[in-house]
Parts: sequence; structure tokens; C-alpha cells
Amino acid sequence: MPAMAPKFVRSSVREMEGYTPGEQPGLGERVVKLNTNENPFQPSPKVMQAIREIEPEMLRRYPNPGGDQFREAAAKVLDVTPDMILTGNGSDDVIAVALLTFCGPGDVLAYPTPTYSLYPVLAEIDEVKVVTVDWDNHWSLPIDALLATKARAIFLANPNAPSGTFVSPDKIEELANKFTGAIVVDEAYVDFAEENCVPLVSKYENVIVSRTLSKAYSLAGLRFGYAVAQPSVIREMNKTRDSYPVDAISVVAATAAILDQEYAKVSWDHVKSERARLTGELEQMGWSVLPSQANFILAAAPGGKGKEAYLGLKQQGILVRYFDKPGLGDKIRITVGTSQENNALLGGIRALNLTEKQAELAKA
Ligand SMILES: Cc1ncc(COP(=O)(O)O)c(C=O)c1O
Repeated sequence: MPAMAPKFVRSSVREMEGYTPGEQPGLGERVVKLNTNENPFQPSPKVMQAIREIEPEMLRRYPNPGGDQFREAAAKVLDVTPDMILTGNGSDDVIAVALLTFCGPGDVLAYPTPTYSLYPVLAEIDEVKVVTVDWDNHWSLPIDALLATKARAIFLANPNAPSGTFVSPDKIEELANKFTGAIVVDEAYVDFAEENCVPLVSKYENVIVSRTLSKAYSLAGLRFGYAVAQPSVIREMNKTRDSYPVDAISVVAATAAILDQEYAKVSWDHVKSERARLTGELEQMGWSVLPSQANFILAAAPGGKGKEAYLGLKQQGILVRYFDKPGLGDKIRITVGTSQENNALLGGIRALNLTEKQAELAKA
């Protein structure tokens, strides 16, 4: 039984559950790890070289508070100005800063569900009220329902997690025209998609885009994310962020990564073609797969046996993600891996005969 929380802890914190991340096996453990949407390729060699060149003096001193070296590099890549960029300790941090900046205790944050399970956790911490709305048919943006929530801020993961589905920037523009609060578009997976919302930022003060280097640049272990918004918005977000949110090593590495677009794009192209192959092969085996623009797919198991599939794959040393939540219980989320990993997954799925034994495992 978990120990009782001390009484001096804020009651809202005592009552909350906290975020549950995907399993992270030890570095030496031999598993096929397709459960946390990491990039299957190593980071750019230029990133590793930049880390090797770090001078001790850079560590002795405090880092630049805004991560300016990265802001300048990212501004060039995205064709915006550096004062439109805020850096953070992963995009989770950037999203937390956004919530803190736009919503106070009792204010309403709205988002379509299912979506990224960190959002309600951040809202609980800040004592912000959450109003969720269902996605419209085929995972399209429920604009009217979102407007009816009278929210101060709307969060929108695009591509969405865990579905991988994508809302076109045109639809988000329609929302931006009708909604006066902040729209935070969480583009953690956008490099695996065909379009993005950065062009909307210059047109709409209330559109804030959040990005990460965890997925597209193979740097989940580094913890580096950033927001793109108009300078008037970034100025306010700068007030609520940590005083030094990005350390000196991560700024150097993230800068090298974003400048090496050519290297990163190879992995994006690989993911897109393997995503299509996995989708096709699973469909042939009777699985139903949502059209994904991310580096993962959400696949419904034949006979609704999502949990059995998850457990059966785990027994074979293949990790995928299972969410025991409404609308998701029959599905597993699979990160697109290397061709070899994807073949192992497909082999593992073929070997799963979802029999009584698997059903027993599921009950355990
Ligand atoms: C939708 C979404 N947003 C943000 C993140 C967080 O990414 P980061 O590693 O930058 O904190 C994730 C990570 O899984 C995610 O799925």
C-alpha cells in the first residue's frame, strides 16, 4: 500500500495521481522497444561532435537563460525571428509554461479526447479546470463543441497522440478566427506529417506552437523543446518559465541537431515509408489502423483483444503501449522502429494466436 501523503502537501496534489510514462527498460536489456515514440535512429554525428567540444568553462558558468544560440538557429530553419522562440526542458516543460501563462486556478482548459495524457496532470497541478470534448467523426476538430466550453485556452496535439491523426491547419485557422483564448498546438510529431501550424503564428497572436527535439531529432534523452509564438506572447511566457530551463550542454546539442536538417530528414522519410508498410501488413492480418501522420500507429486488434496483444508481445520481449481507457482498450499504440524492429513486431503479432491462454493473461 502506498504511504499516506503528508498533510502539509497541497490537497490538490495529494488527490492527484501524477503522470505515468511508458516503460523504460535498462540500457542493456534486450527488448524491441516500440512503446514511447522514440526515433529509431541515432542522433546526428554533428550533435555528438558538438557535445565532445564542450569546454569546462561552459559548465562552470550559468547558461544563457533563454538558450539564445538555439533560438537563432531555429529561427533560421523556421523562417521566423528569434524573439518568436522560447526554449524549454522538453516540450512537456514548454506546455507546462504555456498553461501557467494562460490559465489560473479555476479557469477552463479544453481539449478533444483522447489525447496526450499529460494535459490533465498539468491542469491538476495548476488547479485549472479541464473540460474535454469528443473528437468529431473520424477524428476531426470539434470546433463548435470547443467554443461552447468557454475555455481560456485550448490544447491540441497535432498530430494527435495516441491516435496519430492530423487536423489540417485550415481547420485550426478557422478555430483561431472564432476563439479569443490561447490555442496551444502541440506539434511533438509534426515532422512526420505533411503540414504544420508555424505559418499561422505570424497571422494569429493566439496561436502558440510547441515542438520537441525528442522525436524528429532522436534526442529524447536530452530534454529539449521550444515554443513558437508572436513576440508579445513569448515575452509573457518568459516570465513564468524556470530561470535557466535549458542547460549549456543541451543548447549546444540541440542547436547542432536543428541545423542538420538533411540528416534528420532521412529518418522522417524512413518512418513515413515504414509506417505505410506496417499499416498495410497489419490490415492484411485483420487489424484496423487509423491513418497516422506521426511516428506511431494506433491499431485495433481483431476481436477487440488489445490487452491480450500487448501482454502477448511483452512476453516475447516486444514493448508497445497499451492504454486501459475508454475507446482505447481494444487497441495498441506501436512506435515505428527500424525495418528490423518492425519485422520483429510483425512476426510477434503473427505468433500471437489470441487464444484462451492470452485471455487469461489479460485478466491477471
Ligand atoms: C503529444 C505529445 N506532446 C509532447 C510530448 C513530450 O515530448 P518531450 O519529450 O519534448 O517532453 C509527447 C511525448 O511523448 C507527446 O506525445
